[in-house]
Amino acid sequence: MRDNVESRVIIPVQNPRKILALAVSVWLCATAPSFGADPAAADSPRGMVVSPEAHASRVGAEVLAEGGTAADAAVAVAFALAVTNPQAGGIGGGGFLLYRDEHGNHTALDFRETAPEGLTPDRFVDESGKPVPGLSLETGLAVGVPGVVAGLAEIHERWGVLPWKRLIEPAIGLARDGFPVYPDLVRAYGSAEKRLRLDERATAIFLPGAGVPLRGRILEQPQLAATLERIARRGRAGFYEGPVAQALVATVQARGGVMELTDLGAYEVVEREPVRGTYRGYRVVSFPPPSSGGIILLQMLAMLERFEMPEGYGASDTIHLMAEIQRRAFADRSKWLGDPDHVDVPVERLLDSAYVASRASTIDRSRATPSSEILPGAPAAEGSDTAHFSVADRSGRAASLTTTLNTSFGSGIVAAGTGIVLNNEMDDFSLAPGVPNVYGLVGGEANAVRPRKRPLSSMTPTIVEYAETGKRPFLVLGSPGGPRIINAVFQVLVNVIDHGMELQEAVNAPRVHHQWIPDLISYEERALPADVRRALRAMGHSLATYERIGNVNAIGADENGHWLGAADPRKGGAATGQP
Ligand code: GLY
Repeated sequence: MRDNVESRVIIPVQNPRKILALAVSVWLCATAPSFGADPAAADSPRGMVVSPEAHASRVGAEVLAEGGTAADAAVAVAFALAVTNPQAGGIGGGGFLLYRDEHGNHTALDFRETAPEGLTPDRFVDESGKPVPGLSLETGLAVGVPGVVAGLAEIHERWGVLPWKRLIEPAIGLARDGFPVYPDLVRAYGSAEKRLRLDERATAIFLPGAGVPLRGRILEQPQLAATLERIARRGRAGFYEGPVAQALVATVQARGGVMELTDLGAYEVVEREPVRGTYRGYRVVSFPPPSSGGIILLQMLAMLERFEMPEGYGASDTIHLMAEIQRRAFADRSKWLGDPDHVDVPVERLLDSAYVASRASTIDRSRATPSSEILPGAPAAEGSDTAHFSVADRSGRAASLTTTLNTSFGSGIVAAGTGIVLNNEMDDFSLAPGVPNVYGLVGGEANAVRPRKRPLSSMTPTIVEYAETGKRPFLVLGSPGGPRIINAVFQVLVNVIDHGMELQEAVNAPRVHHQWIPDLISYEERALPADVRRALRAMGHSLATYERIGNVNAIGADENGHWLGAADPRKGGAATGQP
């Protein structure tokens, strides 16, 4: 296991005035009666759940009220989301948990999908070495060995106090009795309907009748209810052995995949050492490889800390600086990051303060540097759809948990008779050098397909702590959105810490995104008014609108330990305080 990784970036720009303003505004927000008027926000001195779907948030708050820990609530919310957020939160995918226990210790649990033993790089390319379109997105080859059920069982075993069955019961009820289809679920069909129609079982469950179900229609999933009952009775064996495992493997193989029962039997959750850094006096803890999220987030914060933040959150100077930082960090992502069990990821060197300083020093404050001039750096020595939810409990424990099927409804393949939607996470590998994946990300050898390897992720479950120990965490947050995850988390952090926004305001604020390649700033319509767009173009930036950048479901605590929940209105999530 790796040693703790501390980013040793010196803090040249302390801003006590802003930090004080923030503390006051968060405190005011906790006490002002108007705060609760925002439907996406909630507050509670006891516990808090913020997830992308209201039933799931309520399930979690009830578990907390019954005396469950943040871990118990996280397990219950994850199972509920597997039912009510089938486009993103299913048990046919993988995920990451960053957990904080009551003593302030952090643990990173990796239950990312793995490539089956028989999955070799040649499976995805034609004779000329070019990836065959669609293979990594909508066939059996797209499906990685799911990790969610193993991950949730591990979370429960380590930190749970309520019975396992109790935590799955609400999900079973939601699957059996159904829940009303909500606007974001309708929207998720947009890109996925074609894939779902390739699979008769997916069509029968998710496209009943003529087509995409209307908002308010009750969606029942009786097969998934039976699968969940089996998992409630048998624990992880209910998924990785017996009829569910057999159905999963048979379905994947019938659709051209190479998964075997032995791949399911060999699946292991891995504990990893979180990556840690500081930002303007706060301690930031995030997820290590095989996620790129934590390292890229810490690199970006460390670069930003070297600059005085320009006045104005949406000003062209601010956007330019953020985009230049994003461009440089994402260039490193393309070369250095992958599954640390298969490649040597230079975590310490990527976060080294001298290295980060040298990357930041190439930023021209008045001109965009073309991405073609920003190669991945040489650190010293040698060289959607996803769902995020946050939980916090009365004892200061916190769970920051992101799960994914990759794209909306994953591969669109449902394992026969189980109701389980299977992921298409294998597209997160770099299938050939320089060939972009579904998110436009390019990569190289570090993220090449190998048997039993985990594809590089951008999921960034993060916990920010007050510098002073012993307090409840300052922020618990994360997001879906492929590479946009990292920049969404980055911007919410910066909005709170640098711009002094209240938590809900920081979550709502429109966002921008740069990922090195393609060389452009994508932006939510409201982020860049016409004059800012003109100024950015004059600096040499290309711009393109993007509908929604991330969906950050965040919890914050004020100095008095009062929890504030802020759901992201982009996908209509819900913050539910423990009564
Ligand atoms: N599948 C998106 C991610 O893990 O980054």
